[in-house]
Amino acid sequence: MKVDLLIYNATQLVTCTSPGEPKRGQAMVDVGLILDGAIAIADGQIVAVGPSSEVRADFTARETVDATGKIVCPGFVDPHTHVVYAGDRVNEFELRIRGASYMEIMQAGGGIVSTMRATRAATVEQLVAETRPRLETMLALGTTSVEIKTGYGLDTKTEIKMLQAIALLASSPHYDLVPTFIGAHAVPPEYKGRTDEYVDLVIEDMLPTVAEWQHATRNTQHTSPFLASSPLFCDVFCEANVFDREQSWRVLEAGLKFGLPAKIHADEFANLGGVSLAIELGAVSADHLDVTPPAEVEKLAQSNTVGVVLPAVNFNLGSAHFADARAMIDAGVALALATDINPGSAPCPSMPLVMAIACRYQKLLPAEALNASTINAAHAVGLGHKLGSLEAGKQADLLLINAPDYRHLAYQFGGNLVERVVKRGQFVT
Ligand code: NIG
Ligand code: FE
Repeated sequence: MKVDLLIYNATQLVTCTSPGEPKRGQAMVDVGLILDGAIAIADGQIVAVGPSSEVRADFTARETVDATGKIVCPGFVDPHTHVVYAGDRVNEFELRIRGASYMEIMQAGGGIVSTMRATRAATVEQLVAETRPRLETMLALGTTSVEIKTGYGLDTKTEIKMLQAIALLASSPHYDLVPTFIGAHAVPPEYKGRTDEYVDLVIEDMLPTVAEWQHATRNTQHTSPFLASSPLFCDVFCEANVFDREQSWRVLEAGLKFGLPAKIHADEFANLGGVSLAIELGAVSADHLDVTPPAEVEKLAQSNTVGVVLPAVNFNLGSAHFADARAMIDAGVALALATDINPGSAPCPSMPLVMAIACRYQKLLPAEALNASTINAAHAVGLGHKLGSLEAGKQADLLLINAPDYRHLAYQFGGNLVERVVKRGQFVT
């Protein structure tokens, strides 16, 4: 059979396959290694994966690539980002170096609200123009699919503007984008001291408008087919002095009624029971988990909710405390990694850097970090059936890595080992 692209002689071909569900426990150390591997691709899909001798006997191709000395692995899925925003917060970086904490800056009217002001003032075209280079940087670092949250609008009009920016960016053939609505990301200044009323606004005005936007966008021919069939999630920042457990429950429950599956920012600084809330609501993921107590880790392990940890945040905030991802894997949590790229807590586009931090400070093995950044990350955005592993029938999103052993991805840091990126069967870098 003739295919479009055949990559062969990969010193290691790393599949990260896990039939039908995310990896847990011992399976996390298995990256599905094929030595001297090959992959055949047609119409943007993977047709076959196996030893070079077998795949080359079965297929000829319009384009062939000799990957001797390199590894081939799935494109990274970044399942938690705030990459659409205007401006920056480099001043807060200095404030933190001088001793202010992230939450102190937020409570003093900076933080998320400062990015809200810049984002409200930007046009949708400006948001797209500021975000596109960040997505291209992420692509060059190996990220082929990105979840993107709203949450810098904090009014209905700007939340929709952020979704429009995501839809415009999604027309690129370079990456797939998965949108998440997080109107309950912070309380905007005009609702200061009236959090419950702001939650009412999120539920009664924003959510119906967002659901309507989703319906209209899906039925427009300009919408990328991936975005048109992708889920739209609803998220909330469940945190002391932001949204409490009850308010978070109201937002996510209302989101579910509008057909938006739940995600949650839980236990970043204070434990408010966000993980058990996520599990009760069947959330696809619970993210941060820096101070989640062992009993809730245990519950998470028994659930289908993916735990997403974001160690670039701890690193960026200069904290020596990290989510206990080691204990989570050992307990059986389906664990994923993400950058959380945003202008405040993590101005970091790099999944390989996140893996490098996770290995050093959270004691993940490189194999665990890689599975957490591919197949489990795909499940954290509800797309494990389509993305995140190299197996026949999946979308052909993969990387050629300039190293002979996958462990180099986390062992080396600060550079870029990604040599080429294939998105839906096409070389895009
Ligand atoms: O995931 N913690 C809340 N939200 C983001 C930070 C966003 C920001 O600081 O702009 C996070 O860390
Ligand atoms: Fe976040």
